[in-house]
Amino acid sequence: MILSLPSLRRNPGRKPDHHGGNFAAIGLRRDAPGFAIWLAILCALIAATLVLGGITRLTDSGLSITEWRPISGALPPLSAEDWQREFSKYQQIPQFAIVNPDMTLGEFRQIWFWEWTHRNLARALGLVFLLPFLVFWMRGAFNLRLWTTLFVLLLFGGMQGLVGWWMVQSGLTSDRVHVVPWRLMVHLLIPVALLGVLFAVLLTGLSASVNQVKSDPGKARPLSLMAYGLCGLTFLQMMLGALTAGNRAGRIYTDWPLMGGALVPESYADLTPFWHNLIENPAAVQFNHRILAYLLLAAAWLAFALQAKKARTGAWRHPFFLFAVLVTAQAALGIVTLIGASPIGLALAHQILGVVTWLGAITLLCRTSAVLPVRRTDDRDSSQEYLR
Ligand code: HEM
Repeated sequence: MILSLPSLRRNPGRKPDHHGGNFAAIGLRRDAPGFAIWLAILCALIAATLVLGGITRLTDSGLSITEWRPISGALPPLSAEDWQREFSKYQQIPQFAIVNPDMTLGEFRQIWFWEWTHRNLARALGLVFLLPFLVFWMRGAFNLRLWTTLFVLLLFGGMQGLVGWWMVQSGLTSDRVHVVPWRLMVHLLIPVALLGVLFAVLLTGLSASVNQVKSDPGKARPLSLMAYGLCGLTFLQMMLGALTAGNRAGRIYTDWPLMGGALVPESYADLTPFWHNLIENPAAVQFNHRILAYLLLAAAWLAFALQAKKARTGAWRHPFFLFAVLVTAQAALGIVTLIGASPIGLALAHQILGVVTWLGAITLLCRTSAVLPVRRTDDRDSSQEYLR
């Protein structure tokens, strides 16, 4: 089993730092309290914002706020006139005229609530990222490498607000009643990637074994390659899932295992040029999401079987096994969601389990590979330079 491979065995001589891990190995000064908790809170907030984004999309609430006011938009309308003004802005857009012409102010306030809560949670997340980052930085807690990693993540996080508006704008034009699917995909993938990297930083820091992996990468290489492959496939599958959701493809072909009564749906290549089908033809997008799910499922169990040959015992605890189980559950949930024509509850559960599966893939990666550059720290803490 992987945990007992010499290359991944815990280092008995190393004392854990006061975070209970080895954060100094990834560039944190030893006396920087709260860092692990901060990362864990950030991961939880990103996951919560993703879920709220899912609810916003599934309740068709995403176009209810037709402006981008990053600061003043944090406050809701405060009077009856303000509400009426906000509603009349929504009444100008095609979605109101074509999809919701009979909507009342009361109904509008409901969809508005979801979009506003999603935006405000994202604002809170931005502050929870930025302010502690500045405090840690001013206290000289990071070395250059850790600072750069976190700063790049912060930039991408900040950009996400802009990307959100770029996505919403695409649904306000005269020819559309929903946002452009591939913009929705970008808007989903940025936080998925951020969550993955932050979770990897957290896990690497918490792991007492990172130095050992780094020092003997040869032994872990095949496991590491499999984990990288599975992680890449999972990310690609999240991307296809986002396109499936963005194209509302889960409400079009609801038969399974066939699609529209055929192995490959007839309208797979209806659009020209061909590549348009890959992002905005619901039949092609859903078909690709199905096929990649089967591939991922097969790859996950194959990887487990290959490493289990070496492991012999304790397989249930193994991250390869956990990952294969997660993918199986997620595929089953995907099928049930599809057959039910994507009801909100199931579609949301499929999105949440998708995020958990992604975290399972990151765990697999961190257990088998030195994902972040780590260094031996036992006697050399004082030799690292920290930024102030
Ligand atoms: C096995 C791994 C799978 C992963 C990681 C995955 C992931 C995802 C993700 C991230 C979404 C987007 C959710 C959102 O933005 O709200 C999605 C949507 C969707 N997936 Fe999957 N999926 C998997 C398997 C499947 C399978 C096997 C099916 C059906 C055969 C399926 C059917 C769907 C449908 C219908 C949607 C759209 C739901 C909606 O309308 O909101 N998925 N998937």
